[in-house]
Amino acid sequence: MASPEHSSIEGNLLEDGLLKHKGRSAPEVLAELEALACDDVDWRAGRILTGLYDPGPGPYELSAEAYKRFLTQNALYINMYPSAARMEKGVVSALAELLRGDGAVAGNMTSGGTESIMLAVKAARDHAREHRPQISDPEIVVPISAHPAFHKAAHYLGLRVVVTPIDPKDGFRADAAAFREALSDNTILGVGSAPNFSHGTIDPIREMAAAAKERGALFHVDGCVGGLYLSFMRRMGEQVADFDFSVEGVSSISADMHKYGYAPKNASVVLFHNRDLRLHAIFTCSGTTEYAVINPTVLSSKSAGPIAASWAVMRNLGEEGYQRIVRDTWDATQKMLAGIESIDGIEVLADPDICMFTLGSVEINIF
Ligand SMILES: Cc1ncc(COP(=O)(O)O)c(C=O)c1O
Repeated sequence: MASPEHSSIEGNLLEDGLLKHKGRSAPEVLAELEALACDDVDWRAGRILTGLYDPGPGPYELSAEAYKRFLTQNALYINMYPSAARMEKGVVSALAELLRGDGAVAGNMTSGGTESIMLAVKAARDHAREHRPQISDPEIVVPISAHPAFHKAAHYLGLRVVVTPIDPKDGFRADAAAFREALSDNTILGVGSAPNFSHGTIDPIREMAAAAKERGALFHVDGCVGGLYLSFMRRMGEQVADFDFSVEGVSSISADMHKYGYAPKNASVVLFHNRDLRLHAIFTCSGTTEYAVINPTVLSSKSAGPIAASWAVMRNLGEEGYQRIVRDTWDATQKMLAGIESIDGIEVLADPDICMFTLGSVEINIF
């Protein structure tokens, strides 16, 4: 239900119309923006169980500064702004190393997990068109726990989605045997999550990627949530199941800077195991009276702000800073899990591999 303040804001600001003949002063506009935000969650307040990624005040302020510095630079025009390409290369290379890629791994920064996934699926589609032209009805095989972005990509790209079950007895991870069974001669791409959202468990990537490879299909790991976090955990000596390019058959990985890379939105990375596969993600067009387009991402014009902010956060935190955040959030997760276990009527549905878990209850409405 709308609060009384909300109603008056709607009355004064929304219904009144935005575009006036005479503009308002900057202080007035800022005050109006504050009023519009009156019902927003205060993300700094804590006690919010949702996707919030706070690097702390220092790195946060720095990332805002970096974002603002490059806000109007168009990362499409790398001839005008080579800084955008340099910063992007820095972030992509850092992630390729974290995810144990060899020198052949190539990739790009994107606007988020969905765009990274879209590009991985497009690359798989166009790779199959070239290398497996006999496939007329291409499909991707995804566990039911995979993010809807795979369904969206298939919808946009004209692919069929084959959905496979997960195993509630194994932390809601993908059922590897059912996944293998579902692969066919038409499969161009298999998918696993590291971890899935929101049980926080890593799919059996090694078995799934091997099965896909046997069928001649590519395999994408959705590391949007865990790509950075799990890699830092591993480097800190925690037991983490292999999910990255160290696993035979993994051909692409998505990893979001705007999640556990602690950068502001919109920032993600998509990596391909070699340059040939990345080429299939690219769109080119020189057949108009407009300028020639060579787009390695879905977006064409885009602010260099998120790229600069990601670069700055990574430079500022360093491995030590990331490991400190991982340690703190992991310790807090253990405390919360222990606390929840002591409450009758609520349970944690799977023992998570990351600082993310799902609460359930058959007695109370969990919301
Ligand atoms: C596992 C997983 N993959 C992909 C995405 C999509 O990311 P984005 O919202 O940045 O497009 C999410 C978002 O929550 C996710 O949890």
